[in-house]
Amino acid sequence: MLFGVVNYSVVSKIVPLFSVPYKIQEKSTIRFIRVMSSIHNNRSTDNAYTSDDDPIPLLTPYKMGDFHLSHRIVLAPLTRNRSYNNVPQPHAALYYSQRATKGGLLIAEATGVSDTAQGYPDTPGIWTKEHVEAWKPIVDAVHQKGGIFFLQIWHVGRVSTYDFQPNGEAPISATDKGITPGLDGVEWSPPRRLRKDEIPAIINDFRLAARNAIEAGFDGVEIHGANGYLIEQFLKDQVNDRTDEYGGSLENRCRFALEIVEAVTNEIGSNRVGIRLSPYTDFMESIDSNPDALGLYMANALNKFNILYLHMIEPRLEGADDETPHRLLPTRKAFKNTFIAASGYNRSKGNRAIAENYADLVAFGRLFLANPDLPRRFELDAPLNKYDRNTFYSSDPIVGYTDYPFLEEA
Ligand SMILES: Cc1cc2nc3c(=O)[nH]c(=O)nc-3n(C[C@H](O)[C@H](O)[C@H](O)COP(=O)(O)O)c2cc1C
Repeated sequence: MLFGVVNYSVVSKIVPLFSVPYKIQEKSTIRFIRVMSSIHNNRSTDNAYTSDDDPIPLLTPYKMGDFHLSHRIVLAPLTRNRSYNNVPQPHAALYYSQRATKGGLLIAEATGVSDTAQGYPDTPGIWTKEHVEAWKPIVDAVHQKGGIFFLQIWHVGRVSTYDFQPNGEAPISATDKGITPGLDGVEWSPPRRLRKDEIPAIINDFRLAARNAIEAGFDGVEIHGANGYLIEQFLKDQVNDRTDEYGGSLENRCRFALEIVEAVTNEIGSNRVGIRLSPYTDFMESIDSNPDALGLYMANALNKFNILYLHMIEPRLEGADDETPHRLLPTRKAFKNTFIAASGYNRSKGNRAIAENYADLVAFGRLFLANPDLPRRFELDAPLNKYDRNTFYSSDPIVGYTDYPFLEEA
């Protein structure tokens, strides 16, 4: 086995496959679909999990704090640019409810905490009364299907341009070093380094956003500490060039993130707070010279706040389907509550990650975007719809958004 820490006790505790989450299927139908899908895919079905009598690790229940999840398949946060003028729209109710299952965890797309938090067109906000009211029917639609719904709260920092900022001002950041203009086809504007005395107001924006999210009905929030945005601009040593107590040492670079965690947990309770981190990625030129140390430091520091979950993005996942990744393992072992792994997962890799206790839950981005019934397809080992990159960020309220077919329609 790969890591010497493989824990198959997870597997032995797994309840029978067809017990909880989905409508009970005729076993013969399920067997038929599995056989057909293996033919369709020109491969044998997922080696370890072919028998009807075997539990599918991703389809097993899990208790995350007070939340009783019926399976381990999480909708990763996905920006879709369909919240016109930052206001969540009715079509999002259909989109999210299509992906909701009873006891399934959904993380809503990155949502701005303030008017300086913006860097892309038509991303949702949660800083005005209008935003809160607009989210309510979307949250209701998910709850009606029994889903558990967290909102990812976000500030882009320097990943922005003057056009997105109030009064055309410079975007704010930990630094005044900009992203290379032209990266990803955008003329990023040079940021303005936040003064130390301005930092408490930004932390307060996250606190208020969390309060607003709860008022809108969300079950909790995920603090977006990943993918090169404001929090990560503080965390990573190749971006953060501050000389005050928010820069330099690991402890100092993590201070801003941890002060946000503290403010948000004080506001809504630690049992409603998760955080997403990506120490290994280089998105938006946000790089750290020692990502192992950064992940581990954060995991240990987060334990003090007893937050609900830590959601970590893998370095690019490669290798065979039956391999479990390993890079996040020290962080996973250090963090005492729920651990979610994301990026590059498919059914086989997800099952491995759960079976080998590498993660408690696995978040799926592109596969869930294109397969509204992803948990059911994984249950049946059914073929998947392919995602269409061209419509990831387009603004149509239906095309590439709510029109991906369900299994019955495929
Ligand atoms: C269309 C799209 C939008 C995304 N938006 C967000 C986002 O709002 N917040 C975030 O943390 N990650 C975002 N991501 C990253 C995904 O959550 C996920 O980490 C990534 O897609 C890799 O996982 P996958 O291989 O399962 O797709 C986005 C990815 C895609 C493809």
